[in-house]
Amino acid sequence: MKICVVAETAPREARVALIPDSVSKLVKAGHEVVVQSGAGVPAHFDDASYVAAGASIANDADTAHAGAQVVVRVQRPDDSEVTRIPEGAVLVSLMAPATAHATVNALSQRRVTSLALELVPRSTRAQSMDVLSSQATVAGYKAVLVGASLMPRFLPMLTTAAGSITPAKAFVIGAGVAGLQALATARRLGAVTSGFDVRPAAAEQVKSLGASFVQSDVVRAASEDKGGYAKAQSDDEAARTLATIGTHIVSQDLVVTTAQIPGRAAPRLITADMVRAMKPGSVIVDLAAETGGNCELTVLGETVNENGVLVVGAANLPATMPTHASQMFSRNVLTLLQHLVNTDGVLSIDLADEITGAMVLTHAGTPKGR
Ligand code: NAI
Repeated sequence: MKICVVAETAPREARVALIPDSVSKLVKAGHEVVVQSGAGVPAHFDDASYVAAGASIANDADTAHAGAQVVVRVQRPDDSEVTRIPEGAVLVSLMAPATAHATVNALSQRRVTSLALELVPRSTRAQSMDVLSSQATVAGYKAVLVGASLMPRFLPMLTTAAGSITPAKAFVIGAGVAGLQALATARRLGAVTSGFDVRPAAAEQVKSLGASFVQSDVVRAASEDKGGYAKAQSDDEAARTLATIGTHIVSQDLVVTTAQIPGRAAPRLITADMVRAMKPGSVIVDLAAETGGNCELTVLGETVNENGVLVVGAANLPATMPTHASQMFSRNVLTLLQHLVNTDGVLSIDLADEITGAMVLTHAGTPKGR
């Protein structure tokens, strides 16, 4: 099968969907890979490294797409990019499905089968294809570094001839993939760490990373659905959560927020008053900024200064670490492509398959669910 790797066009996107190491595995399995010239350069993979892996280089986007059976990308294609995808081909990409209505219609008109990487089920079998998890790992790590670089103080404890420095306190709200990585990173940098989540299962994971778990009576089994995700809280539970966080946050130097409920706006867990009660010089890095923010003062892509407390509305942090973010993304895409190819090496879209079926946005000219 012929696979096309596209150069991303979205602002500040520096990742690439397949890196040379994965290309080499696909070529060895008998597939043809065409890479748009320069596609890997922002992530530090040059054209020569793709050629060495067995790919051919296309000078422009039109040539790269010509005759492709599978088009792989990081970000959803825009209108002009959709028209380049060959009719009947398969598109594998992040699609931001909630806002993809126009793109979905355009893809169906071209009879493109589109697989949204956000819709990989969070199951053990699909874990190695889950780009949301791999990219959340990058974001959780980078969030701490962003916060640390904005802080006017050290994270670790230091004993020096110039006196002793007490360690910073770092608090992570939401102990999922990003949150646990943030806790591990803050701890490695020497901070005294604590975490909070509404799922009781998260408590052990937080403690296993050397952090304390902030207790609240809202942390109970009923907070979790069958898939292991947090459920939306009632008004009363939300008020009690705010009270727990409000008491703890006043003494914290660095706060990373990652709380999310799938398919909903981010829960509001830090009010403007809580920010004003924090010490000047403290930093909040809000990873949920793209879905409205966990903090009331968050502005996506901006850093707000409220009485000396900085609130960072983090946007696409994985793209700021494009080499390793692409390496992980690429491994996920490679595993998915291997999953889509049957034992005869032929691409097959099996709608009854629990992974493929969950990811399909359009198939054979029809948007899913119509
Ligand atoms: P996840 O689903 O693994 O973790 C979210 C956690 O929030 C869960 O453990 C859940 O139980 C918890 N949670 C839900 N409601 C809560 C509440 N009221 N109080 C406390 N905890 C609550 O999600 P993941 O993959 O770790 O992503 C976290 C966030 O980071 C998401 O909003 C995601 O979109 C965002 N993200 C942001 C990036 C950026 O660069 N800005 C990049 C990657 C992810």
